[in-house]
Amino acid sequence: MTDVSTTDAALDQPQQPALDDATSDPTPAGVDDPGPAGSDDTAPAGRGGRDSLTVTDNRTGQTYELEITDGTIRAADLKQISAEGLGLATYDPGFVNTASCRSAVTYIDGDAGILEYRGYPIEQLAEHSTFLEVAYLLLNGELPTEAELEEWVHQITIHTFLHENVKQLMQGYRYDAHPMGMLMSSVSALSTFYPDAVKIADVDNRQLQITRLIAKMPTLGAFAFRHAQGKPYVYPDNRLSYVENFLAMLFKMSEPTYSADPRLVKALDILLILHADHEQNCSTNAVRSVGSSQVDPYSAVAAGIGALYGPLHGGANEAVLKMLRRIGSVDQIPAFIEGVKAGKEKLMGFGHRVYKNFDPRATIIKKACDDVFEVTGVNPLLEIAQELERIALEDEYFVKRKLYPNVDFYSGLIYEALQFPPEMFTVLFAIGRTPGWLAQWAELVQDKEQKIARPKQIYTGHRSRDFVPMSDR
Ligand code: CMC
Repeated sequence: MTDVSTTDAALDQPQQPALDDATSDPTPAGVDDPGPAGSDDTAPAGRGGRDSLTVTDNRTGQTYELEITDGTIRAADLKQISAEGLGLATYDPGFVNTASCRSAVTYIDGDAGILEYRGYPIEQLAEHSTFLEVAYLLLNGELPTEAELEEWVHQITIHTFLHENVKQLMQGYRYDAHPMGMLMSSVSALSTFYPDAVKIADVDNRQLQITRLIAKMPTLGAFAFRHAQGKPYVYPDNRLSYVENFLAMLFKMSEPTYSADPRLVKALDILLILHADHEQNCSTNAVRSVGSSQVDPYSAVAAGIGALYGPLHGGANEAVLKMLRRIGSVDQIPAFIEGVKAGKEKLMGFGHRVYKNFDPRATIIKKACDDVFEVTGVNPLLEIAQELERIALEDEYFVKRKLYPNVDFYSGLIYEALQFPPEMFTVLFAIGRTPGWLAQWAELVQDKEQKIARPKQIYTGHRSRDFVPMSDR
């Protein structure tokens, strides 16, 4: 048995140090220096050594001192700043500068292009680790010993099968159903097959659901793929590794055993590692937000899959491929770029909320492209992608806005070379992200500071109107 007791212990990590610079500017514009320069009593943190922020409310002239911890102030501390009885709040659509949790899972420094899972650089994990080992790391906080890894892989392998009714459910979709829609709804359906999953406070139970979900995601993804092709679903083959088994469920026809080229297996394994977690991104935030209601993990992860589906998030890899096909040839690129600069559309696969220099995952993927193309032959869209990148990186519009290729810019080219249709790209992303979602969910469940997610709003509508009868409208 896997030592599940390590899960909780390891998740109980020391608090992360200060947030990175991009999210922790201690002197927001508009907040005046509270005292005369050199005055010890009133000197702000940094000069006076106090970990606090002094704010003067110019509406009332009153001054407040707010504690700074971990590079943040508590939004709730602003409530005391009030005029006419209304406590001050922050307005932050898209959470561009708001920390919603403490987390010890993934560290990103967007300016330096650093991504670490549990402190291990993504470059080293991609080179030396496997996806299931990385999943263990994300979930347990430490790399597994040989015995722990063996047990973990065994547990995942024996949970790959689906209840036959899930298969029937998937067969009920229209022939052209998008596989992400099928994945999202079949994951949420799993909550009805495992009603014990509601016991989220029970560590053994959590571990069981986590194992089930990571094990079944490739099976669900492969069934969705076969469905679109009208081919019979292929059951898991427990003699194969996680990635080999996934490829077999996707592509096996009448041969007794499907065998994949090990270089392609390795490339797909690396892609899953690169997608395994990315701290508080849109889909993880969705998992945490829905999970904060204490619902079961299948329902929370289904919400994450929904968020990932969108073209600004995981759906970008599908959009990139479609964009490259639409551009069609290198000579069409300048006209396309002009359209982007004129605001007609976005250059998909470019830009990131956090990375403003380069996306370390994109660098690793570019290298993986070479390995895959050695086996499959070069994807003809590569030339367009490379020229698009070259032109964009020299263009003032993109340079000024710090827009660089992100993980999705090149991943689609590899997926296509591996015979995946664009609709499947985001499914691959979802399979890779599942351990990250679940590690973040488990962290949330054990975090005593967490509350049900419930943001405030700035109300802009009408007030206190009398109902108008139909005849008077
Ligand atoms: N093409 C053209 N202009 C862009 C792009 C782009 N791909 N991305 C951002 N901009 C512009 C944007 O219009 C804005 O310009 P202005 O200042 O003139 O209004 C400026 O750059 C800042 O962009 P933003 O939308 O405020 O940035 P954001 O942090 O809110 O959005 C993003 C980040 C990833 C959603 C955005 O860059 C985007 O839509 N990129 C294309 C979609 C994409 O590739 N998404 C995958 C992200 S990586 C994988 C993942 O984590 O899911």
